[in-house]
Amino acid sequence: MAKGYFQMKTGILTGGGDCPGLNAVIRAVVKTAVHQHKMDILGIIDGYYGLINNKMRILTLEDVSGIMPRGGTILGTSNRDNPFNYFMIINGKKVYRDVSDRVIKNIHDSVMDALIVVGGDGTLAIAERLFKMGIPIVGIPKTIDNDLSATDVTFGFDTALMTATEAIDKIHTTAESHHRVMIVEVMGRNAGWIALHSGIAGGAHIIIIPEIPFDYDAIVKKIFERKGKGKHFSIIVVAEGAKPKGGDVVVKRMVEDGTEPVRLGGIGNRVGDEIERMTGFETRVTTLGHIQRGGSPSPFDRILATRFGAEAVHLVAKGEFGKMVSLRTPDIISIPLEEAIGRQKNVSPDSGYVKAARMVGISFGDI
Ligand code: F6P
Repeated sequence: MAKGYFQMKTGILTGGGDCPGLNAVIRAVVKTAVHQHKMDILGIIDGYYGLINNKMRILTLEDVSGIMPRGGTILGTSNRDNPFNYFMIINGKKVYRDVSDRVIKNIHDSVMDALIVVGGDGTLAIAERLFKMGIPIVGIPKTIDNDLSATDVTFGFDTALMTATEAIDKIHTTAESHHRVMIVEVMGRNAGWIALHSGIAGGAHIIIIPEIPFDYDAIVKKIFERKGKGKHFSIIVVAEGAKPKGGDVVVKRMVEDGTEPVRLGGIGNRVGDEIERMTGFETRVTTLGHIQRGGSPSPFDRILATRFGAEAVHLVAKGEFGKMVSLRTPDIISIPLEEAIGRQKNVSPDSGYVKAARMVGISFGDI
């Protein structure tokens, strides 16, 4: 059993893909717990893996000192290790088992009074199941994808957006110098938030998002329209979840034991090959990949993570469980976990963002 200093002990785990701001949230949780509520915080190592395998340690003020600007999570994370579908090898055979009873035993053995789960939809859906089994849980939303409808925005998104925008700025100059079509593939799973926002901020000419299926002819039309105006280069931002009209997404790999097994990726190259063939323009593709998940969190993400962390501890202290903290600008509120999960937030093709982008001449590759 991890020994603490105070009577009450709350666990914290970070699950799913990491994102900038996780350390800021851990810091806020520890500081609020120690200073305001005389509560110990037990850090669980590597997300649900640590709960299943009993890997946890007390986090002191010293542990969280100076971690705010650091990307990643000092606790480690995992987007596999689902306690309800846990991968193991038994007698040389790959099998999946429900080990949630092991998780509950470990929680009781560690004398944990409550658990704060920081994660995206997959991680929070597991948290909700554990809550229904009697574990006192409070959720905190995070993801660079910004695809949770239960909060105005998740922390991690703003920093990923900065990274993608900076990359597009850099691509711009080389595209112009070489008179090329340059494609930047960004993350976001089945939501186009990173592509839409970075595309607008980076001055892209074409933005391809999952919510607006594209047509190659429409992309080509835009490129030639620009050529006709003396612009011999074009920047296309493509979301990894984009798909052509009547077509499907490009799957990069399947992660069998993941909470969300499909990994997207490769649409950028597919679009690049086709555009080069159709236009004769030399085309290059840059896939930003996990760079978008790293780096020091932006001030916005640090502040949002701090507010979420502090509020989550207050909920624990008040005994309000089965809730998730959420930003409803300008307030931090809490909503039932079961209302928060399974409701993906997508870009509306009629949104003001899309309209404004079209006004300034950006094509979505649809008309
Ligand atoms: O959800 C965050 C995210 O970075 C997605 O944008 C991306 O599709 C996925 O995770 C990548 O997952 P992995 O780290 O397993 O490759």
